[in-house]
Amino acid sequence: MLVLGIETSCDETAAAIVEDGHTIRSSIIASQIGLHKPFGGVVPELASREHLAKIEPIVREALKQASVEFSDIDAIAVTQGPGLIGALLVGVCYAKALAFGLGIPLIGVNHIEGHVFSVIFENPQVEYPALALIVSGGHTNLFFVPEPGLYKVVSRTRDDAAGEAFDKVAKMLGLEYPGGPEIERVAREGDATKIKFTRAKISDGRPDFSFSGLKTAVAKHLRENNIQPITNGGAPGQEIKDLAASFQKSVIDALVGTAGSQAAEYEARTLIVAGGVASNMALREAAKTVADRLNIPVYFPSRHLSTDNAAMIAAAGYFHLQRGESSDPEMTADVSMRLQNLENPDAELRASRVRYKL
Ligand code: KG4
Ligand code: ZN
Repeated sequence: MLVLGIETSCDETAAAIVEDGHTIRSSIIASQIGLHKPFGGVVPELASREHLAKIEPIVREALKQASVEFSDIDAIAVTQGPGLIGALLVGVCYAKALAFGLGIPLIGVNHIEGHVFSVIFENPQVEYPALALIVSGGHTNLFFVPEPGLYKVVSRTRDDAAGEAFDKVAKMLGLEYPGGPEIERVAREGDATKIKFTRAKISDGRPDFSFSGLKTAVAKHLRENNIQPITNGGAPGQEIKDLAASFQKSVIDALVGTAGSQAAEYEARTLIVAGGVASNMALREAAKTVADRLNIPVYFPSRHLSTDNAAMIAAAGYFHLQRGESSDPEMTADVSMRLQNLENPDAELRASRVRYKL
C-alpha cells in the first residue's frame, strides 16, 4: 500500500511516499529557513505563500524519486493540525482536492502523532507500554502510550516549548534562527557546569515543564555580567559558550529527568524521543543514559526525520487507514488539534485555571 504524505504545518513543505507504513520510497523536504531567517522567526503569511508555491513541485518530486505515478498511490495522509492556519490549509486543501480527483481515501493526521511515528522507520519494533517525549519548536509533551494509537498526556509545558526556548535564548545571544542547532554548536565548546540555573518547580506538583523562567534567568545573567551578544555572525566568546552549554544542560536535565521518572512510574518498556529538538546530540546522550539506567531501549528518529517531514505523516496515516479510519470531505485544518484520547485532564486543568501550552 502506497501512501502519499503531505506536511505543511509550519515552515517546511514536505511530501513523501511510504510503502506499507514503514518503507520510505521518497521523502522531500523544502525548508523555508532562509526565507524567515532575516525576521528571526517564522512569518506566518510568508510561510503560507511559500507552501502554495512549493506544494505542487514537491509532491511531483516525491513521486518522481519513488518512481511512481499519481495512479499508483492508494491513499493520502495530510497534517491536519496543530500548526499555523494558513500553512495547514495549503496542505489540507491540496490533499483534499487530490484525493477527490484520484478517488482515493484521505486521512487527516495529528502532527504530534506524526512525530511519535517518526521512530518506526529505523528502529526495532516499539514495545508497549511506551513513553514518548515529543520536543519541538511548538510543543513539549510527554505521552504515555499503552498501545499504538492511545495517548495520555503525562507532562505538558506551562509556557514555552523547549525548541522555542532554544530559539529565544539563541536570539538573546546573537545567534541565528533556528536557534537550537546554533546553541548546540556553540555549547560544544562551553562548560555546562559554569552557570547553575534553578529548575522550575510546578506548584501543583504535576510533572509539567516550564522554560520561560530559564529564559529570563539567561537574560539576567547576560545583563548582570555585562556579556554582549555576538554581532554579525562573529565568533562567540567563552562566556557565551558557557552560557549556551549551561542553558542547554538545564533544558535537557528537565526533559530527561521527568521522562525518566515517568517512564519508571508508568513501567514503560520503550522510551521514544522525537521532534525537532531530538536532533540535539546532548539530549540523545542524556536520554540514553536514563533509559540504560531503567534498562529499556530509547528510540530516536534519524536527523532527517527529527524535524518536520512528510514520511512520519504517511506512517501515522497508514496506521489509521489500516484501522478502517479515513477523513470525510468536510475535514479541515485544526490549529489547536489535541493528541490525547485517554484520561483527558483538560477540563480539570481549565477549572483550576492552569495555564499550559498544547
Ligand atoms: O519539529 P520541528 O521541526 O518543528 C515543529 O514542529 O516545531 O522543530 C523545530 C524546533 C526549533 O525550535 C529548533 O530550534 C529545534 O527544533 N531544534 C533543535 C535542534 N535542531 C532543531 N533544538 C536543539 N538542538 C538541536 N540540534
Ligand atoms: Zn514538528
